[in-house]
Parts: sequence; C-alpha cells; structure tokens
Amino acid sequence: MELPSREEILAALRREVAELENFENSTVGPAGPGPLAGAPADAAEKSSPDFPTDSPCQASSAALPGEDKKKRWDCLRDRVLGCPVCNSHVSAGKRVVFGVGNLNADIFFCGEAPGAEEEIAGEPFVGPSGKLLNEFIGAMGLKRSQVYISNILNWRPEAPKGQNNRPPTRKEMDFCLPYLRAQVEIVQPKVIVTLGNSAIHGFLDPSDNRPMYDLRREWHSWSGVPLRATYHPSHLLRNRPAPSQPDKLKRQVWEDLLLVMERVQLPISPEQRDYFR
Ligand code: URA
Repeated sequence: MELPSREEILAALRREVAELENFENSTVGPAGPGPLAGAPADAAEKSSPDFPTDSPCQASSAALPGEDKKKRWDCLRDRVLGCPVCNSHVSAGKRVVFGVGNLNADIFFCGEAPGAEEEIAGEPFVGPSGKLLNEFIGAMGLKRSQVYISNILNWRPEAPKGQNNRPPTRKEMDFCLPYLRAQVEIVQPKVIVTLGNSAIHGFLDPSDNRPMYDLRREWHSWSGVPLRATYHPSHLLRNRPAPSQPDKLKRQVWEDLLLVMERVQLPISPEQRDYFR
C-alpha cells in the first residue's frame, strides 16, 4: 500500500484543525482578558498623543480575515487589545476592555465604558452595574452567555482628581465606534440595546441631544440594526427608592426590555410581564 505524502498528511491535519475550530463554542470572552497595560512592550505606545482621525487599526469587519465569525472576532479583539490609542489611556496594571458573549446573539447590549472593576477584569459589566444587568438578562429568561455585551468606549475614562468616573467625550466615542461597528457586523444581532445616555448619544447623530426620557420611547436604527435605548444600571443603583417603595426606574427598564423580547420573539409569560412592579 502506498503511504500518503508529507503534503497529504499536512493537508489532512489542516482540514481536521479547521473542522475542530468550526465546532468551537461561539461564546467568547471572559477566559483570557487582554494584556495588562504598563508592560515594557507598550511603553513606547503609551506616549501615543491624541486620536487619529482615520479608521483605527482597520477596525472595519470587511477588512477582517475569513468568513468564520470566531476568527474575525479573535482578530478584531487582538487589534483592540493592541490598539496604541486605547492603551495610551489605560494605566499600569489595568486593561483595555473588549466585548464578550455569544457571537450568534440576538441581543447586543452596549454600555458606556469600563468602570473600576471592569478595567481590572478586562471584561465589561462585571461590577455592581453588571450584577444588575445580569438580573435583567435572567428575567428575560436568558443567560449572560446567550447575549453579547460591549461598551462604546474600550477604556475607563480618566476622571478628574476627586471624581470616580466621567462620561466619555464625543471624540473618544467617535474613535472607538468603528470597533463597535465591526463587533455588530460580526455578531449581526437582531436588536442593539444601549444602556445610558452616553451609549445612545454615541450611536446617534451628534445634533440629536434629546434626553433619555424621549429617546427611549421609540425604535432607532444603527447600521440597519433596530436599536432600543434604556437607562444605565448605574442610574438605577444611584436612584434606588426606599425598600417599601416600588422601583419605578427598574420597571421602566423592564418595559423597554419587554419590547426588545417581543422584537426578537422571545416567549413572555404573564409573570414576566408583571416583574418589577
Ligand atoms: N458601566 C458600563 O457602561 N460598562 C461597563 O462595562 C461597566 C459599567
């Protein structure tokens, strides 16, 4: 019997590897956050001045290799975690934060920017706001691993002395938007849900300065994807009513999420309709 050539063996192995990769779970993220900032390798990049106006590091998903979602997402994630501008805003020992979740998710949550816990973990929404977001996701009958979660900004905005957090600037959001667009293009969700003022204003035309009160009343569209705006979980945490009082803000967010559930055709039980009253 004739033995296969070295090339034939290599080709067969390559086919096996490709097949194995196709079987990989499409949930991505938490395992393996990005590198810590401040390592010698990025010392030179730290001096990166301001925001370049051209498209950052070819964020466009059209420029990403291959047709496989996971490979394109991996490549985009590597670009973001290695982005010199993003890294120039991260202090030593902290991380640039990229999106996590299911690459086939129907629902794409987008927050504002990583907070203190997130820049340590390298994952969006892992602190108190994340716990509340998880509660809403669970109420929808979903697991966190069934949705995709990202932020408008890939780094925690440096706050003025004495302040804990500050909202991202328009310039910062405009710089990161191509990275977000590429994530949306890879995941192809049925709905984007923006959390908080910064997130919705980052998506909308800068001339649209309507308050959240108005913006959450209608469906918007971004890159052809239906988009619903709601309050940020941290806004709910800061405005919690007395324990004996109903949490009206929480109910409002829930009503927004019920509309999202209807849009993506998730089943809604009568009990679910009544949650958080
Ligand atoms: N707030 C956000 O907007 N995003 C996070 O990832 C955490 C808190």
